[in-house]
Amino acid sequence: MSPTTLNDPNAYSNCLIVIFGASGDLTKRKLIPALYSLWESGQAPKSFAILGVSRTEFTSESYRDKLFEFSKGSYDPEKWKEFSQCIYYHPGDPTATGSWKDISSTICDISEKHDLGQNRMFYLSVGPQFFEPIINNIGSSGLVTEGRRYCSIGEERPWQRIVIEKPFGSDPASAIKLNNTLAAVFDEDSIYRIDHYLGKELVQNLLVVRFANSIFEPLWNSNYIDHVQITASETVGVEGRGAYYDSPAGGAMRDMVQSHLMQVLSFMAMEPPVRMDAADIRTEKNKIFKALRVPKYEDVPKIAVRGQYGGGQISGKPVMGYRDEKGVAPESQTDTYAAMQVYVDTWRWGGVPFYLRSGKAMAEKKTEIVIYFKPTPHLLLKEEAKKQKPNQIIINVHPNEGIRLRFEGKVPGLGLKIKDVVMDFDYIKQWDVEPSDGYAILLNDVLRGDQMLFKHRDEIEISWNAVQPVLDYWADNPQDDLPNYNAGTWGPSSADIMMARDNRYWHNY
Ligand code: BG6
Repeated sequence: MSPTTLNDPNAYSNCLIVIFGASGDLTKRKLIPALYSLWESGQAPKSFAILGVSRTEFTSESYRDKLFEFSKGSYDPEKWKEFSQCIYYHPGDPTATGSWKDISSTICDISEKHDLGQNRMFYLSVGPQFFEPIINNIGSSGLVTEGRRYCSIGEERPWQRIVIEKPFGSDPASAIKLNNTLAAVFDEDSIYRIDHYLGKELVQNLLVVRFANSIFEPLWNSNYIDHVQITASETVGVEGRGAYYDSPAGGAMRDMVQSHLMQVLSFMAMEPPVRMDAADIRTEKNKIFKALRVPKYEDVPKIAVRGQYGGGQISGKPVMGYRDEKGVAPESQTDTYAAMQVYVDTWRWGGVPFYLRSGKAMAEKKTEIVIYFKPTPHLLLKEEAKKQKPNQIIINVHPNEGIRLRFEGKVPGLGLKIKDVVMDFDYIKQWDVEPSDGYAILLNDVLRGDQMLFKHRDEIEISWNAVQPVLDYWADNPQDDLPNYNAGTWGPSSADIMMARDNRYWHNY
């Protein structure tokens, strides 16, 4: 994320990028477009190559053609021709130890051909069941030499980095197991656990808004803030991922709350770091994870809500219920909606609840953070008091990217009538650019060796602890009212009841 080195060619060392699962969706939709845009804008090493490894049969040429065809005109044909010369494909099963003699020699041949030395980025774009065998095979291949090779003074040490995307386990024990497998092959500072939410412009903006301004930080604590809501609602259902989503590793609490929303919470809540670098940011985030209150099992019904969508309508179109989706059990108990009240037990946040919620097939697609401020200590405009709404800072992560400040103003005319008004920083109008989907930012960070926006193993293990009592309670206590919300609505009424108990309401507008 450090901006100073972005256009500095010396910040990048030549390297080979090896993508496992290269015939899958993520590679063609996100990774190749991100690498192309970095190459086009000069924010990439002078020399690099990409090797796709997957079981599907392609030659390098037919693989390049497939990628180009998929892009439907989004690459300039001349530039693509030049760029794609560095893309190679190796058909093979990276989980099978027997395939590695060939995979390793292809890696070495391409590295030699492009003069890339031993710098390598391994990207695991595969299902979680394949993580451990592939990591073990990388370990046995002898391709990871980082820090173990003798270098003479002044010579650049070769690096090997691994990029891995969630799920990082499905509970604390499996997360620790995966982290141990990674640690047996790579040092922690070579492991890039990607969370695409941290690549989002407005999530990173949180750090700038908080730490590059003096007006917000004095208010950023329990003296002024009543509560915080972090929402990631989607209008889509499980979209063909029914079998995975309905497995013990799926559901909204695991898929969204434990991962993305906890990360957003940590940016929102952390103390100012000593320096804006990866080590200091991770130290501060870690303190927030350590301070997350682990709910008591018996309190789960009061602090968490599980929901599942039934049939309904979204944008006037009928939508089938979750249990009718392919791969989903007819009696499924999986949460397609999860909401949870979380406390961060620190001096700054004592007594301030954070409400996290995420759901599929909901009324609107939005990811936002809403900070509700406490009421004024004394109501001067007594007649208008009922109309006086809490001040809010609304951070629209997506869509309508921007930051809005809602406060009370005077209605024009006689008397002192009040109404809430909004001061609006609209990201797209201001910068005249579409925010990136995050992958280019995050891949650029990996190329430069900047771990600021990546998760440390401790964050993962601790955030699992904070949700595990809820998952345990839900597993032990099937809910007979599921499905309990219609597709196209704001989730189950039990989530509104949870808020009403605290005299609060969800930000559904
Ligand atoms: C992914 C989840 O991590 O994030 C998906 O696995 C979800 O289920 C997606 O749809 C949402 O991402 P975004 O960027 O659209 O909010």
